[in-house]
Amino acid sequence: MSNEIAVNWQQDRAFAPSPEFVANANANDPDIYTRANADPQAWWESWAEQLDWIQKWDTVLEWNAPHSKWFVGGKLNVSANCVDRHALGVRRDKRAIVWEGEPGDQRILTFGELHTEVQKFANVLKGLGVEKGERVVLYMPMIPEAAIAMLACTRIGAVHSIVFGGFSAESLKERTNDCGAKVILTADGYWRRGNIVPLKATTDEAVEGCPTVEKVVVLNRLGDKISITMQEGRDIWWGDLVAQASAECTPEPMDSEDPLFILYTSGSTGKPKGILHTTSGYLTGTMATSKLVFDLQEDDLYWCSADVGWVTGHSYVVYGPLANGATIFMYEGSPDWGTEGKGGARDRFWEMIERHKITILYTAPTLIRACMKWGEEHPNSHDLSSLRLLGSVGEPINPEAWLWYHENIGKGRCPIVDTWWQTETGAIMITPLPGIVTTKPGSATRPFPGIQADIVDEKGNSLPDGQKGILVIRQPWPSMLRTLWGNDERYQQVYWSKFEGIYFPGDGAVRDADGNFWLLGRVDDIMLVAGHNISTMEMESTLVEHPAVAEAAVIGKAHDVKGQAPVAFVIIREHLAPAPGDTAGAQKLRDELKKWVGEKLGAICRPDDVILSADLPKTRSGKIMRRLLRDVAEGRVLGDTTTLADPVVVASLKEKYSSEEN
Ligand code: WT7
Repeated sequence: MSNEIAVNWQQDRAFAPSPEFVANANANDPDIYTRANADPQAWWESWAEQLDWIQKWDTVLEWNAPHSKWFVGGKLNVSANCVDRHALGVRRDKRAIVWEGEPGDQRILTFGELHTEVQKFANVLKGLGVEKGERVVLYMPMIPEAAIAMLACTRIGAVHSIVFGGFSAESLKERTNDCGAKVILTADGYWRRGNIVPLKATTDEAVEGCPTVEKVVVLNRLGDKISITMQEGRDIWWGDLVAQASAECTPEPMDSEDPLFILYTSGSTGKPKGILHTTSGYLTGTMATSKLVFDLQEDDLYWCSADVGWVTGHSYVVYGPLANGATIFMYEGSPDWGTEGKGGARDRFWEMIERHKITILYTAPTLIRACMKWGEEHPNSHDLSSLRLLGSVGEPINPEAWLWYHENIGKGRCPIVDTWWQTETGAIMITPLPGIVTTKPGSATRPFPGIQADIVDEKGNSLPDGQKGILVIRQPWPSMLRTLWGNDERYQQVYWSKFEGIYFPGDGAVRDADGNFWLLGRVDDIMLVAGHNISTMEMESTLVEHPAVAEAAVIGKAHDVKGQAPVAFVIIREHLAPAPGDTAGAQKLRDELKKWVGEKLGAICRPDDVILSADLPKTRSGKIMRRLLRDVAEGRVLGDTTTLADPVVVASLKEKYSSEEN
C-alpha cells in the first residue's frame, strides 16, 4: 500500500469517558450500537422523524447498487429545518451565529435574525432569475453571509457549489463551468494574516471563461480597503440587492432526493469530481452525527474551525449544528493573527475560546501540530475551562498530537472525537461517541451506529483484527454521495468498481483487538496537505503545462505540520535546462515552478521542493515509481528497486536531493 501514514496502532493508552461526562451525554448507553446495527433503516428513520416534513416519506430506502434513494416520496426544506423551526419556536432569540473577523470585528445573529436574512437573500436569488435546480457558485470569505447564502439557496431549491476562497481563478473557472452555474456570489476580498486576499479580481479573471454565468453578486467585506471594478449589467452589490428584498419567502417543498449541493474534490486522475449530495438523507446524517458525536446541548457554543469551502464547513459549520438549533461560532482568519489591542497572535484560538466561552472545538491535526510547534505557553496563558469536548478531522492524527491536544487544550478533562469521513460520505462515519467509547490516541475507534465498515484484502475478503487492509463500507447510508455531477460512469468506476456493490473510500485501515479502527492514509495517489485533499495528477498536469517542463512526478512527503507536503520532481526540456553548475539559474527555475503551481492551483498546492532531474525512476512499463521518490524525499534507504528500468536514475536523484537547496 502506498502513501501509508505510520501510526502506532498498537498504542495502548486508553481514555474512558469521565462519569460526569457520561451522566449528561446525549448518548451514554452502549446498547445504541446493537440496536442501530440490528436494523439500520429503522435507526435512520428514527432520526428522519426528528426533522420537520412537508410530506412524510413512503419508503426508507431504495437501493439499486450503487444508487440509493432515501426517504422516498418525502418532501421537506433544509433551510426551514435549520432556521424556521428554531426561529418560530423557543429559540427565536437564541444566538445562531457568533462571528469574529480577523481584524477583531464581531457580529451576532439570533435565529430570528438569521430567519430574516435568509428569506431576504432567497428573494435576492429569485430576483436574479435563479430557479429550483439551477446552480449557484459561492466564492466567499468565512463570514455569516456565506451561511446565509447557502441557506438561501436551499430555501428556493437552488443547488450551491462552494469553491474555497483560497483557490485560483483557474480552479474557480473549471468548477463553475463543470456545474454550469448561472450566478456567482463573492466579496471584494477578505482578511488573512493581516493581508487582503482579493476575491472579486480573481472572480473577474475566472468569469471571462464562464459562458453560463449571468450575474456576479459582490459583498463589501473590506470597506474601502481595495478598489474593484464592477462590470455594468453583470456585477451587482450584495448590499443593494438585500436592501430592496422582501423579508418573506416561503420555503420551497423539496423532494427528498432533490440535489442540495455539489462540492468538488480532487480526483486521482486530474479533473476534480463534483460530489452530489441530496436533500433529506444528507440532513438526517449530519443532524444525527452532530448531536451524538459533538454531544450538542442547548447552551453550547460550538466551533468548527473549517472553512465553508470544504465539506466539514458544509456539514459541521452549517447544516448539522443548525439543524439541531445549536449556536455556531465562525472565525474569518488565521490562527496566528492577533486581535487588535489584545496583543494576541499565536494564541488567537485560545484567546477567542476564553473570551467567547466556547464549549466545543472541532479542528484539524494540521492546526494542532502547528500549535505544538508554537509551544504550550500560548494555550497555557488562557482560561480554557469553558471547553468540554474536542474534535479532530481531515487526516490521521498522530498519537503525539492527540496527547498534546488532550493535555494542553482539553486539560485531561475533555473527550476527543477523532472523526473519519469524506466529502463523499457527507457525514462522520468512524468516530467515538464521547459518552460511551474509550478512546485511544490515533484511532478513530468505531463506525457510527448504523454504519457497516469493514477492512478487506485486495479480493474483498474481510481481514482479521491486526491485519492492514482496505477500508470499505458494506451498506448504503443516508448522507452518501448520490453520483458525480454529470458523470455517473466515473462515480461507478471510482467508488464501486473495486468491489462490486461495496463502497470503496480509498483509505487503508487496520482494526485492533478491541474493535478500534486505525486509519492509515490514502491507498491511491492523493495527498493530504494541511487536511486538504490534493491530487498529485492535477499538480503534475499543471507542471507539464509550463514550457520548460517535459515531465513531472509529484509526491507527498511527510511534513510535521502539514501532514504531507507536495514535492515535485521535474524533467526540464534540454534546451531550457540551466547549464551544469549554473546554481543561480537552477534556483530561479525552481522558484518559478513553485510560483507557477501556486498561481494555477492555489497556494496550498505550491510544492515545498522542486527537484530538477534528468530522468525519473520508472518501471519497465513506464509507470513512475512514486514510492521510490517518496523514499528519496523522506531521506530513507531506497526500497526495492528491482522493477526499475534503470536503477542508476534513482541513485543520482538521491544525491541530487540532498545537495540541492530548496
Ligand atoms: C480523506 C477525505 C472529512 C472532511 C475533511 C476531508 C482523510 C479525514 C480523517 C481521520 C484519518 C482522515 C481520509 C479521507 N481523513 N478524516 N479522522 N483520520 N484520515 O475531506 O477532502 O474528502 O478527504 O481525508 O484519507 O479519505 P476530504
